[in-house]
Amino acid sequence: MKKIATALVAALTLSTLSTLDVMAQAAPAGPTSGVKTDKGDESKWLDANGDPTFKKYDDGSFDWYTFNGFRRYHAECHVCHGPEGNGSTYAPALTDSMKTMSYGDYMAVVASGREVDRPGGQKSVMPALGDNKNVMCYVDDIFVYLRARASGALAGGRPKREVQRSKESQDFETSCMGG
Ligand code: HEC
Repeated sequence: MKKIATALVAALTLSTLSTLDVMAQAAPAGPTSGVKTDKGDESKWLDANGDPTFKKYDDGSFDWYTFNGFRRYHAECHVCHGPEGNGSTYAPALTDSMKTMSYGDYMAVVASGREVDRPGGQKSVMPALGDNKNVMCYVDDIFVYLRARASGALAGGRPKREVQRSKESQDFETSCMGG
């Protein structure tokens, strides 16, 4: 009897663990606000998977990365993807994509691009931007901004900024743009 009970407990523990595991993997990229800070950069927020995310403060303002991502998105992406990530006849709405897209998939498509054949011989082309410093030095900022948009936390417009940017993010920009 005791043996069976032990086995049962073990089985239950295992199934709980694997359910949690699946939940963690399946967690959508969109609707999470920051849960912990990266100690190396106090203005950067990470989600439970350790991927960059936005932080919305009680007064409706946002972290530095969301604020900067808004500016960088509108410099590098909006000509094709439309203002505020809303999409265009030419390229998909990233406010939708970011509801389910992982950080890894986002990085891969931005860095390496994607070409898809459309009916009628047309091609849909996302350019490879991996060599473009104006994109890659701010690729997290843009990701974080689009997550805030996709989750609905940022309804639109220029995000109000709560905190000063950290020295770490300033140093990163200097070395990324200069190196
Ligand atoms: C020259 C136009 C153009 C520019 C500039 C551009 N994109 Fe794209 N992007 C596209 C097109 C077209 C697609 C759809 C490709 C396809 O059909 O799979 C796309 C797809 C994507 C996807 C995949 C979306 C999904 O649902 O699978 C992501 C993510 C993305 N772009 C991010 C960006 C970011 C971030 C920038 C700015 C740094 C950017 N793009 C700039 C044209 C562009």
